[in-house]
Amino acid sequence: MGPSVDFLGRDVVSARDFKRDQYDEMLRAVEDLEKSRESLDGTLKGKLAALLFFEPSTRTYSSFQIAAEKLGMRVSGFAGPTGSSITKGETLHDTVRMFEGYGADVFIIRHSKMGAARFAAEISDVPVVSAGDGSREHPTQAMVDLYAIKKAFGRIDGLKVGMLGDLRYGRTSSSLAYALSNFDVEITFIAPEALQMRPEVSHFLTQRGVTPRTAGAFKDVAGSLDVLYVTRIQKERIPDPTEYEKVKGMYEVNLEALRDAKPSLKVLHPLPRVDELSTDIDETNYAQYFVQAAGGLPLRMALLNLILGGAR
Ligand code: NCD
Repeated sequence: MGPSVDFLGRDVVSARDFKRDQYDEMLRAVEDLEKSRESLDGTLKGKLAALLFFEPSTRTYSSFQIAAEKLGMRVSGFAGPTGSSITKGETLHDTVRMFEGYGADVFIIRHSKMGAARFAAEISDVPVVSAGDGSREHPTQAMVDLYAIKKAFGRIDGLKVGMLGDLRYGRTSSSLAYALSNFDVEITFIAPEALQMRPEVSHFLTQRGVTPRTAGAFKDVAGSLDVLYVTRIQKERIPDPTEYEKVKGMYEVNLEALRDAKPSLKVLHPLPRVDELSTDIDETNYAQYFVQAAGGLPLRMALLNLILGGAR
């Protein structure tokens, strides 16, 4: 593969920072890895990954950890606020500085504050990868999502993608929308008014020539979609509990809801799910979310390898 000009030494803080060529390169790298044309095991031997997770995580933390370890890296850091000095008030700034002193070669950071990853990237000499930034961005999840779409259809261009759920406070939908704006797709934001996509995301897409459509409910667009990207209501990010009470339980994707869907529809979800995605579709051909989650591991391996310039 050779060193990547586009990724080597690069921060990954926003899905907006990457263009079509880079997404294509990323997808090629992970496809090669999965087809085992390239084993990346041990390519980053001796390097240190600092995983600083100021917010809880299951998939993102463990897939980055396993990815780094398979690449031969050592892993240090913390998987959530408990078990670190954050509970004593230690700042992101000091934490980054300290791990740099320990020889970190890359930071993987999840934080509840918007802009935290960008801030860390500014003070750090080594690459910073966002693993979720407030309610705005989750760029590596967007790469995982693109990969799941590509796996299902063999392409991304030409597809009609609906995003359903809490688009306002969810960071995965906005990052995926940014990433998809590099492709020839039709995007529909499906949400009740209170949870509709933030205007700045729609503006960005329109500027990129992918003007999003909107719908209030899935049933209005059910028959037209190729991909349905479902997200949970971000209860912990909604500032006012009464606002949450008004929207909770407003949508659920189940077999009944998919009655008018194309047989080829694929349902994605970044997980965790709560009550918006019924288990009754788990065993159907619609379900792509477990394949999607599993793709997180090879994708993060391929990404770290590109950024840190592993061999092959
Ligand atoms: C998401 C997140 O943390 O934003 N989870 C994930 O990384 N797969 C989605 C969510 O929490 O709803």
